[in-house]
Amino acid sequence: MSKPVKTIVIVGAGTMGSGIALTAAQSGIRAVQIDVNAAQLEKARGYHTKQIARLVEKQKMTADDAAATAARLEYAADFTAFKDAECVVEAASENPEVKKKLFRSFAETFAADALLATNTSSISITDIATAAGARASQVIGMHFFNPVPVMKLVEVIRGLATSDETVTRTLDLARTMGKTPVLANDRAGFVSNRVLMPLINEAFYAWMEGVAKPEDIDQIMVLGCNFPMGPLRLADFIGLDVCHDIMMVLYRELGDPKFFPCPMLRQLVTAGRLGNKTNLGVFEYPPRV
Ligand code: CAA
Repeated sequence: MSKPVKTIVIVGAGTMGSGIALTAAQSGIRAVQIDVNAAQLEKARGYHTKQIARLVEKQKMTADDAAATAARLEYAADFTAFKDAECVVEAASENPEVKKKLFRSFAETFAADALLATNTSSISITDIATAAGARASQVIGMHFFNPVPVMKLVEVIRGLATSDETVTRTLDLARTMGKTPVLANDRAGFVSNRVLMPLINEAFYAWMEGVAKPEDIDQIMVLGCNFPMGPLRLADFIGLDVCHDIMMVLYRELGDPKFFPCPMLRQLVTAGRLGNKTNLGVFEYPPRV
């Protein structure tokens, strides 16, 4: 067993970041949730409190474990006060410049043997690692899936400069968090989104061409292929803007027009219909209370 991760810093308190923090805390790791946006940080805290309470209610967690899990969660606006953490996971917006700026700062802040991980769903790890300069060997992709506490997979992606030690320690960390890590190489979209996004895009084309109504496209895939949710509902769940951006990375990097987002998807994004988070995407969702 490699050097264990006792403290993990998660930068970005959105859906993915807050899910990663909760999962880490549940597995016994001190989890520091970072976001410059105070409202986002409060939202993450509310999500954690609610999820922990639900687990106790469902008798999946004892009251003592709930208190210990809550005590392992911390919230802050700035990560520089946590420079002794053995691992930082970046879960900020899917923008290469935002990520590179963070990794420049990670390289200056954290120890020479800390894991510098990114939860990117499509951006090149090798490219992000260039921002870490001499610390590029510590940079790795740790791609979680939504909802993080439920989904078993962590797609682990090594960049060109990632060291073997960084890979081994990341695999150990994912297992400690109760996940099954699977390695993928650093190509656009890795495996998950390279395969998933064309499927989602094709569902949009089937809708646009009138092959079936959206709810029927989904039902066919749920009942006929045993998908937990249909591809259009899944696109809403991921966020139509996120799907669009991932497809554009695939299209640009791999140069194949099959990855170019369907006009129907582009139109919904233009209209601000982004899926669950705006209560309207392909489908309509009741506002969450
Ligand atoms: N946080 C924590 N737990 C959650 C949760 C959340 N946000 N959402 C659901 N759960 C839990 C529920 O509490 C419930 O737990 P119990 O079984 O212990 O009661 C369990 O998950 C099932 O939830 P529900 O009964 O409410 O609903 P469901 O059976 O319809 O499952 C689902 C919901 C897990 C989301 C399921 O529909 C599913 O697996 N969908 C596909 C999700 C998927 O494909 N995710 C990957 C997207 S791609 C991605 O994330 C990466 C990328 O780069 C784009």
